[in-house]
Amino acid sequence: MTTASAPGKIILFGEHAVVFGVTAIGAAIDLRAKVTVRNLPGSVLIKTAELALHGFSLDLTTGRLTSPQAAHATRYISAVLREFDVKDIRVCIDSSLPPAAGLGSSASIVVAAVAAISAHHGLGLSRKEIAAISYRLEKKVQQGLGSPMDTALATYGGYLKISRDIAPLDLPPLEMVVGYTKMPHDTLSEVEKVQDLRKRYFDLVDPIFQAIGAISEKAVPLIREQNPEELGRLMNVNHGLLEALGVSSRELDELVNAARGAGGAFGAKLTGAGGGGCMIALPGAAGTDALMVALKQARGVPFKVVAGCEGVRLEGDL
Ligand code: PMV
Repeated sequence: MTTASAPGKIILFGEHAVVFGVTAIGAAIDLRAKVTVRNLPGSVLIKTAELALHGFSLDLTTGRLTSPQAAHATRYISAVLREFDVKDIRVCIDSSLPPAAGLGSSASIVVAAVAAISAHHGLGLSRKEIAAISYRLEKKVQQGLGSPMDTALATYGGYLKISRDIAPLDLPPLEMVVGYTKMPHDTLSEVEKVQDLRKRYFDLVDPIFQAIGAISEKAVPLIREQNPEELGRLMNVNHGLLEALGVSSRELDELVNAARGAGGAFGAKLTGAGGGGCMIALPGAAGTDALMVALKQARGVPFKVVAGCEGVRLEGDL
């Protein structure tokens, strides 16, 4: 039996603008997907216990499915099994990441599965190979959609600076709270919305992108110096600019306002494509618990997270 786990991710600054080559900052978070593989002669069985889904299993040899919600994780696992031509196996997924929320749940499942299969079958894949294969497979399942950021963060962990290319940033961990709106988000439609706005109003939208890029650049030394007050201020400005681009939503704004108000956060913003999904907040003087309570009261699902955590790893004997 072999188990690997990989982290989810948040975008701290720069979503949408990054599509046009402007700098963004992403971070791995300590909500992880765990994938366990063990030999099961004569069968290919996928079992999952994803958060927000009921457990289910899918037997690929008989096609037997115990839940209609199987689609999310099994599509990715099936792609990994096909890639390595693996049979006679039982795969268990145990994820604490909500799917379709912009927290990189599919990337972490793919990366953990590739790492688990590599170790179980003695393939000895390097991190670079795990990241490259996982990116290709995630993109294939998503029919060509997907940036390499999610699989890179799930593989390497820490922080990444993304512009035309992706580079690691050496920064200390940051305690944050993620607030999930419980509304699924659709990255493609939000990106198209912004592209359309840019086409119509290039002279207005381009300066917004440039301002977002400047925020990402200014944020790096603030994370390094651990200055949450100023970082929070930049998160608030970034959220305002994303709202101007039309990618926030009533639910996201409610959680952002609750975090800044009753939650006493130093700052809050949506994370990822927007339209639904999640927001992030930096706890203020009132601490993390006050922020969690405020987000719950505003009908969100809060998660305490640490940004900048470890990438894919094999788990010891369980
Ligand atoms: O929805 P997410 O978390 O995968 O984030 C998408 C980020 C965008 O900048 C909107 C798109 C992209 O490919 O960078």
